[in-house]
Order: sequence, then C-alpha cells, then structure tokens
Amino acid sequence: MKRCVRMAIMKLGAVLITGGCLVAGGFAQTLNLGAAKSADFNILYATSKDVAEGKQVADTVCAKCHGALGISKQKGVPHVAGQRPIYMRNEIKAYQVGKRPDKGMTDAVKFMSEDAITKVAAYYASLDPAEPSGGVAKVSTGPNALSAGKATAAGCGGCHGEAGISSTAGMPSLVGLDPKYFIAATNAYKSGQRKHEMMKALVSGLSDADVSNVALFYALQKPGKAETPAPGDATAGKTSATGCVGCHGEGGVSANPATPSLAGQDAQYFVDAMRAYKDGLRSDATMKDAATSVDQTTVKNMAAYFAAQIPQAPKVAKPLTIAEWAERCDRCHGINGNSTDPRWPSLAAQRQDYIEKALRAYQKGERKSKEMAAMSEALDDTTIEGLASHYARQKARAITYLILSPSK
Ligand code: HEC
Ligand code: HEC
Ligand code: HEC
Ligand code: HEC
Repeated sequence: MKRCVRMAIMKLGAVLITGGCLVAGGFAQTLNLGAAKSADFNILYATSKDVAEGKQVADTVCAKCHGALGISKQKGVPHVAGQRPIYMRNEIKAYQVGKRPDKGMTDAVKFMSEDAITKVAAYYASLDPAEPSGGVAKVSTGPNALSAGKATAAGCGGCHGEAGISSTAGMPSLVGLDPKYFIAATNAYKSGQRKHEMMKALVSGLSDADVSNVALFYALQKPGKAETPAPGDATAGKTSATGCVGCHGEGGVSANPATPSLAGQDAQYFVDAMRAYKDGLRSDATMKDAATSVDQTTVKNMAAYFAAQIPQAPKVAKPLTIAEWAERCDRCHGINGNSTDPRWPSLAAQRQDYIEKALRAYQKGERKSKEMAAMSEALDDTTIEGLASHYARQKARAITYLILSPSK
C-alpha cells in the first residue's frame, strides 16, 4: 500500500512535495497563508518521517477503535482516514481537555503531547478516505413533510375545500391558519376539550406527525376568501370589530400563532364559533367574554366584515429538500461534503450513524460549535437521517494542499 503525504509547499511557483504524491481522484487546494497564524498550519508541513511516527501511535493506540488505516467498522466511531488535518488536531485537543465529551477518546489521548497529536493527525490525513457506503437512500426517496401533508389533506378537502378554501357554508377555511393554532385545534378535538364528535372522529386516527404535516400543507397553500355567502352588514361589522383586532390582527390577519386569523373565514362558521364560545362548547376564557357581550346581529355583521378581508399566508418557511439542505452545508463542507479547508471536516463517505450522532450532539449542545449550533437547530429527525445518508453516499476525495508562501 503506497502512502502519500498530501501536503505540498509551493514556493515561487515551484511545487515541493514533501515525500508525497497526488492521488487519482484527489484534488489540490491552494492555500494562502499570508494572514493565517502559522502555528495553526504547521501540521501542513509534516514530513514523511513525522507521518511514519504518527502511524506508530495510530497502530498502537487508535486502530482498535478507528480500524486499520482509519476506516472504522464500529457504530458511532468515525472514519478518520483522509479527514482534514487541522480539524483533526483541534478535535483531538478538544477531547483531551474534555471539551468534546467521549470517554474512550479522552482516555486514549489524555496524555499525548502536542507533537504526537500533530503527527497522528498528519498520518490519518494522509490516508485514502473510505469508499462511499452503498446504503440505500433511506429517506430522500420517501415522502417529505409537505407531500405527506398533502396526502393526509386529501381526506379533509371534501368539507374544507381542496386547498383549504371552504365552499360550503359552516365549514371553516383552513388556509391562513398558523400551524401552531391548527395543531392545537386538532388536538383539542382529539382530547374532547373542543366538543365536536364528527371532527373528533375525523382526526383521532392521525398521528402527531400527520397533524403537523397537514397543518404545514394548509399553511403553505395560497390563501383566498371562503367561497360562501356572508349575509351580514360588513360596514357595521367593521365598527363592532374594533375590539377584536387587538388580538386577531388588523383586517383579521393575526400575527400571534396562538390566535387564529379571521380574514376570509366562512361567515356561517364564524357565527357557529361565536355561539360555541358562548355556550361553552368551546372553552376559552378570553373568547367567552368577547362572545357573550355581543348580540346575534352584531356577530353576523362582524362575520360579514371578516369574510370580506383578504387572508394572508402565515409566516412559515417551506421545508427544504435534502438536496437544498446539502447545498447549504456544502458552502462550508465543500462540494458533496469534500472540505477544502484544512480546519473544517469533510463529510463525504463518513459513516451515516456517526453523522447522525454528530448532528444530534450539536442540536443538544453536547458538542459545541457556533456554526453547527445554528445549522443543526432547524433540522428535524427526517432531515438529519436524509442528510447523513446523502453524505455517506458521496465519493470522498483526498486533498493536497499547495501552500503559497510569500516570496522572499
Ligand atoms: C476507545 C475507542 C477509541 C480510541 C482508542 C480512539 N478513538 Fe478516536 N474516537 C472514538 C469515538 C467513539 C469517536 C467519536 C466520539 C464523538 O462522537 O464525539 C472518536 C472521534 C475521533 C476524532 C474526531 C473525528 C471527527 O470526525 O470529528 C478523531 C480525530 C479521533 N477520534 C482520533 C483518534 C486518534 C488519533 C486516536 C489515537 C490516538 C483515537 N482517536 C483513539 C473512539 C476512539
Ligand atoms: C365531514 C366534513 C369534515 C371533514 C371531512 C373534515 N372536517 Fe375539519 N371541520 C369540519 C367542521 C364542521 C368544523 C367546525 C367544527 C367546530 O365547530 O368546531 C371543522 C373544523 C376543523 C378545524 C378547526 C378550524 C378552526 O378554525 O378552528 C380544523 C383544524 C380541522 N377541521 C381540520 C380537519 C382536518 C385535518 C381534516 C382531515 C383529516 C378535516 N378537518 C376533515 C368538518 C370536516
Ligand atoms: C384577548 C384576545 C382576543 C380578543 C379580544 C378576541 N379574541 Fe377571538 N380568539 C382569541 C383566541 C386566543 C382564539 C382561539 C381560542 C381557541 O383556541 O378556541 C380566538 C378565536 C376566535 C374565533 C374562532 C376562530 C376559528 O378559526 O375557530 C372567532 C370567530 C373569534 N375569535 C372572534 C372574535 C371576535 C368577533 C372578537 C371581538 C368581538 C374576538 N374574537 C376577540 C383571542 C381573542
Ligand atoms: C457556516 C459553516 C458551516 C455550515 C453552513 C455547516 N457546517 Fe457543519 N461544521 C462546520 C464546522 C466549523 C464544523 C466543526 C465544528 C466542531 O469543531 O465541532 C462542522 C462540523 C460538522 C459535522 C461534524 C463532523 C465530524 O466529523 O464530526 C457534521 C456532521 C456537520 N458539520 C454537518 C453539517 C450539515 C449536515 C450541514 C448542513 C445542514 C452543515 N454541517 C453546515 C461548519 C459548517
């Protein structure tokens, strides 16, 4: 097995490769060290002798977990072959002082000198990376949240309108509702807290994921006014509604996810809802007061006013596909997860289970990184699995750094 030191120093246009070679399938990255702290980058100048010493440490201390030649066969243990050198050295130092928690790793490196850490990191960086895992795309081919929501909504469209715009008097429109309100309303039917036997029967079979997906589906539909009659006096209704807009928003477009928007809502449903609050079928302290203080005509007028207002889509971002996510990750981790920065990790061909574990650790704050805390925050379980499987299947490319030293 030919071993390569994939670090080269380029001076005055001439490439001095220290005992190394360019590898087929690998690529070269030029680095300008003008501004960088040279101590951070000294690992890039490791000689073949340093690398050979690093191998000795690796074979005696690390191989039992990370595998021969840095290709791990153990769940939760990352491949380290071909990983970026400065990144590895920094991580080993983080384990050493317990900043990155893993007992096995801390025990293994606790007493290592800075010099030995540099050499072992240089050794692993010089190895050929793992082959991509042949694992099937577990998630990216499956339904995402939005298409799953659409499938569930197929059973609701007969009453609520295909895209959530009601065309049957008495049936509420579901567009323009914030998912938070939507989910709370559905759960209130399920628990019986909101008394409506038919809706209870209709939603009791839905899982939490189904409810959240269907709420997302409706939130992302183009809003429109209900296509139903609104017989009251809208002008009079506007005057009566001045006390409502503080909570329900100007023109009935609510900015509070817990308070439903009323703009464009079916007028008959509006009247029924007000009666339900009054009668206690819907128990909500704030609405009970609002509903008992107004007479039937006023309610009808307000219903006509709100029905005539233009609904707005709630502020909900369309979920990204795995490919769209990966494009964002690649901005730092390199094309298809092949990092070109020696300080930042490659993800290509890394073990899927390990990538999932790392993302969850960032999410929980067990592993600390400013960049990754922000990036992992918005990832749900499905996306984590999808991204991990995506990167595990990418071809990993070895790298040679061509260091441009300032000419003397
Ligand atoms: C007892 C098993 C064990 C031994 C021995 C061990 N490691 Fe690890 N190593 C792990 C595990 C498990 C992780 C992942 C822990 C985590 O999730 O943070 C890890 C993580 C790492 C990482 C971080 C990789 C990344 O992509 O972030 C590096 C680098 C590393 N080990 C290098 C070494 C080196 C060098 C040695 C030998 C000096 C060594 N390890 C010895 C189990 C071990
Ligand atoms: C047979 C007709 C029918 C079907 C089918 C139906 N609904 Fe309803 N839905 C209603 C009626 C009527 C109400 C008003 C009930 C009330 O007064 O509380 C309602 C109310 C709701 C509300 C509360 C709206 C609000 O503004 O508070 C939600 C959310 C809802 N339905 C979701 C669904 C979902 C999700 C499905 C499909 C799984 C579904 N509905 C299927 C008739 C139906
Ligand atoms: C203090 C805040 C507040 C005020 C003031 C208020 N509401 Fe509400 N309203 C709410 C909240 C919160 C809900 C949701 C309660 C629930 O979950 O049943 C609601 C629900 C409703 C609903 C049911 C909507 C649906 O989609 O099911 C109607 C209709 C309504 N309000 C009309 C009014 C009218 C008309 C007024 C003025 C007379 C008014 N509200 C004043 C907070 C308020
Ligand atoms: C702004 C730059 C940036 C972006 C964007 C970014 N990352 Fe990272 N990522 C980093 C840095 C820096 C680290 C190393 C942090 C550390 O030391 O723990 C890292 C570490 C990781 C690790 C741990 C690697 C290992 O070997 O342990 C994984 C997994 C990861 N990122 C996945 C992702 C995914 C998936 C995305 C997209 C959702 C993403 N990253 C987006 C900068 C970024």
